[in-house]
Amino acid sequence: MRTNYNLLGLASILFLTFQTQALAQSSATEQFTYNGEIGRIINENCVVCHREGGIGPMQLGSYDQVRPWAPLIQLRVANLEMPPYAYDHGIGIQELEGDWRLSPDDIDSIVAWVNQGSPLGDPDIQPPAVDLPDPTAWTFAEKFGEPDLVIASVAIDIPADGNDLWTKHYVYSGLTQDRCIKAVQVKPRGDAKAVVHHANTDIQVPNEDGEFEDYGYLTEYAMGKWGEQMPEGVCRTLPKGSRVHWDIHMFPGGVGAMAQGQVIKDNVVEVALWFHDEDFIAETQPYKQDLRPYMMRDGYENNHLIIPPNGYTMTQGFHSFDHPVRLDSYQPHGHLRMNAASLEIFYPATGRTEQISQISKWSATWHHSHIYHPDEAPLVPTGAVLVIKQWYDNTAANPNNPDPDQWVYEGSRTGDEMSHAWIAVTHLDDEGYERLVAERKAKEDRALAGND
Ligand code: HEC
Repeated sequence: MRTNYNLLGLASILFLTFQTQALAQSSATEQFTYNGEIGRIINENCVVCHREGGIGPMQLGSYDQVRPWAPLIQLRVANLEMPPYAYDHGIGIQELEGDWRLSPDDIDSIVAWVNQGSPLGDPDIQPPAVDLPDPTAWTFAEKFGEPDLVIASVAIDIPADGNDLWTKHYVYSGLTQDRCIKAVQVKPRGDAKAVVHHANTDIQVPNEDGEFEDYGYLTEYAMGKWGEQMPEGVCRTLPKGSRVHWDIHMFPGGVGAMAQGQVIKDNVVEVALWFHDEDFIAETQPYKQDLRPYMMRDGYENNHLIIPPNGYTMTQGFHSFDHPVRLDSYQPHGHLRMNAASLEIFYPATGRTEQISQISKWSATWHHSHIYHPDEAPLVPTGAVLVIKQWYDNTAANPNNPDPDQWVYEGSRTGDEMSHAWIAVTHLDDEGYERLVAERKAKEDRALAGND
């Protein structure tokens, strides 16, 4: 038996060596041009932000605009920093909604093109143009039309510099009936996007005496996030008579490369909601879905997260449910020292651990809710354990680190740290869980049969 394994190992090493040589050869001989392949990649993946009125610092809409930036483009693309969607290739679930990553092939093409001197190519060919959404429009406007409800925070002015600021206040939803949310997006208006570090919304509902009580979270926003879309057959509820509690954290002057260092007048953050029809609950009896932060260690009340000067730390948390669930999205949260995160599921019944998501180059300037494709969203049996890990680098090697000589503690300010992950969870029962497992298996079997 042992010999067999060794032979297998040898065979795969030979195969790998052969493959690597083939790759090296193909990228050495293949010539890339802007008008050939590269313009298409940049138009499809970069121009949406790198255009007039977009949030990127320069425009990348033509060869003349792209050419001077080629070396920096190569660096940012090769480091997986641009497009700004850090989520590891090849580890865990790869089918995500709203995934901005370039394919490994496109990354290799850009790297090779710059190595070849970033040529234009045939001047008679134009790379295909793309239809770009209006940069001020809502993410889901194209899919679902204008939002059914927009709730705006109360305007405040933010100075050009100074300490972190918070505003916390209530705004009434005006709903006279419970509604199920189909999609939600939080957006700072205009210039505010550079200074709004996060804007959380939670819901309160009146009890029988008319006093407001906590109901749960509506959604979460942190810099760079584009929104959340609920999967089919679930209800994230905004109840009748509810009010929304805004908790907005601002960083005067801005954070990172988006910093503008100016006064922002009338800073307003809006939450836009797209609802299912009014009779959605009665007609479909959906499962409840909610979004909430899952803490690592004991939460920030206990100040357990401590990172020494010029040092590192790592936190982990565990969570299990007394009923089956589906994980719909995952969004790690931390600040300037946090640089990596992962989510795994441990199955006590088999002793197996499954990797779900990993972000090895996490950066606080971009927070993404990684929305799992409905066919891949983890179905978690009762008692399985979510294992949530986050890593922190307080050394000078971390480009976001404002001061490696500080002790860093858990806290709310941008210069403090946090350690939790926002996870959207559909709460199933045994029947619903088994149905989803069976549906998925049937789909996989069909796909396999189709491959014959
Ligand atoms: C979602 C919007 C968005 C997309 C998509 C995007 N960028 Fe960016 N880009 C930004 C923002 C904002 C910055 C400045 C902040 C930062 O560096 O994170 C930036 C910075 C850069 C920089 C560094 C500029 C400097 O002066 O340091 C380069 C180079 C770059 N982008 C290239 C690209 C390329 C190439 C793509 C596509 C493959 C791309 N970007 C896609 C928003 C975007």
